[in-house]
Amino acid sequence: MNSELKRICKTLRLAYVADIVDTIPFENPEQYLESLLHRELQLREEAKAERLIKKARFFSKKTLEAFQWSEQVRFPPHIDAKELCELHFINQHENVILTGSPGTGKTLLATGLGRKACQNGYEVRFYRVSDLVDTLERVWKEGKLQQFRNKFKKVDLIILDEMGYIPFSKDGAELLFQLISDWYEQKSLIITSNLEFSQWNRIFVDSRLTAALVDRVIHHAHILSFTGDSYRVTHALSRQK
Ligand SMILES: Nc1ncnc2c1ncn2[C@@H]1O[C@H](COP(=O)(O)OP(=O)(O)O)[C@@H](O)[C@H]1O
Ligand SMILES: [Mg+2]
Repeated sequence: MNSELKRICKTLRLAYVADIVDTIPFENPEQYLESLLHRELQLREEAKAERLIKKARFFSKKTLEAFQWSEQVRFPPHIDAKELCELHFINQHENVILTGSPGTGKTLLATGLGRKACQNGYEVRFYRVSDLVDTLERVWKEGKLQQFRNKFKKVDLIILDEMGYIPFSKDGAELLFQLISDWYEQKSLIITSNLEFSQWNRIFVDSRLTAALVDRVIHHAHILSFTGDSYRVTHALSRQK
């Protein structure tokens, strides 16, 4: 492609046209232009999804397709697997809570939904709760809490993995509570936990704080329970046979 055409593409912010111009089959002008621009758009969306996935900082590379649905996942009456995977809960600022014993696929499902959300153009953040609380305590001590909170302005979905594995300090609990209050009815949360709500006071020492937090989190929430044996154990056993 000549340099004038390159310059025009740049001005029009067509990032890919220059590279793909020779690869699009030509039948007639209209078809050619449509195919070319269609491909430009497609590549742009792919690049955006990649950027969003990087920013989300998932721990695992697995996607939603890796998740095998079974009877082990119990849904509340008003939603099913298909609707969940269509991600309407994000636009509605609703929460999804995945509870159940270790190894039952909660993190995998949370990650899969998060990756799909990125592919659909949503801003997502993935945190292990204990890491988030450590960060909160650090930025608070450094006087940068507000700066940290501002980082979530454009975020649509926040995944909090492993709520309840490690109890926090009183300060940590309060900081997390503040953050979750900020997000209330503004963002969507996916929370995974090995604890039933009745046991959340084990994480938050202060029972008033626990009650207030549970209240905010479960208002507008879809609560899925994961039952049965650990997938890791079952698969380790079946491989041995
Ligand atoms: N339903 C499932 N389909 C496919 N893989 C699964 C499923 N459930 C669990 N796994 C796999 O088993 C392991 C444990 O799952 P994980 O999501 O970490 O469990 P949890 O977060 O509930 O402790 C992971 O390697 C995960 O990919
Ligand atoms: Mg997990």
